Amino acid sequence: MSDPLFQVDETDEGVTRAQTATGTELSPAEKAATREEHLKLAEGALVRADDLLAGYVPGVNILRGCDFYLQDGELVGIIGPNGAGKSTLLKTLFGLIPVRSGSVTLRGEDITGAPAHRLVSMGVGYVPQNNNVFPSLTIEENMQMGVYLRPKTFKERFDYVIDLFPLLGERRKGKAGALSGGERQMVAMGRALMMDPSVLLLDEPSAGLSPAYQDEVFIRCRRINATGVSIIMVEQNARRCLQICDRGYVLDQGRNAYTDTGKALMNDPKVIELYLGTLAKAQ
Ligand SMILES: Nc1ncnc2c1ncn2[C@@H]1O[C@H](COP(=O)(O)OP(=O)(O)O)[C@@H](O)[C@H]1O
Ligand SMILES: [Mg+2]
Repeated sequence: MSDPLFQVDETDEGVTRAQTATGTELSPAEKAATREEHLKLAEGALVRADDLLAGYVPGVNILRGCDFYLQDGELVGIIGPNGAGKSTLLKTLFGLIPVRSGSVTLRGEDITGAPAHRLVSMGVGYVPQNNNVFPSLTIEENMQMGVYLRPKTFKERFDYVIDLFPLLGERRKGKAGALSGGERQMVAMGRALMMDPSVLLLDEPSAGLSPAYQDEVFIRCRRINATGVSIIMVEQNARRCLQICDRGYVLDQGRNAYTDTGKALMNDPKVIELYLGTLAKAQ
């Protein structure tokens, strides 16, 4: 542990926020965010992260004891204030940031620190928030890039993608760079789906889109989920995300603050006061 990258700052004790709030009655969603509950519920999960410490700068952890699980078939949302570590969590799950402590598993197999290309071949797709298309390539070429590991499956996968996003079929010869933000988002999601992933990680798929397109994105995510793809979605549009997800996590300062079904979180007075009110106003 002499490598400065793996030094852990002393404030990290690997406990959730809720656990630190001793002496006060925990709400159901706070209790569910404790490690004890996580350990009970994460059993047999498709994707599972336990007690993650990770960050960018030596000695500073952004994820500070974060727990997460996704059961097969679920659509799980992650919300929380700006800078809470939501994107960092997705990047850590996808092997883009070194894990300083804790573990990540996929179907029970340890994938802590596994490189992104290995995760792709294991069925994990990741759509980053920005720079997620090749603008100088056509839509069709973008889709080919998505399936470069299995070129023979191109036609079958492209048919699946254009069934979800008909516009991508109609505009297949057009350059991705000429598309609007919402259309590019479709290209990015389509490209990730070309590899037939069993898990899709989406970082703010509705960001920067007009309200009509935002709605479209959420509906598409539900449809993709209905075709058997499990989804982890980070979103600033917290209410809308909680409306469509099976379960949600509220991440705050790199720790789990609350977790419950999307519906329960939307109606939790503390979640409304602390996270939905301000987030709603910010939109
Ligand atoms: N590449 C980076 N290098 C250093 N710090 C970073 C980097 N990316 C994000 N951070 C820091 O990590 C923290 C969490 O960021 P992020 O995970 O992007 O938050 P969120 O997605 O919840 O808004 C922020 O304080 C941010 O400044
Ligand atoms: Mg982010």
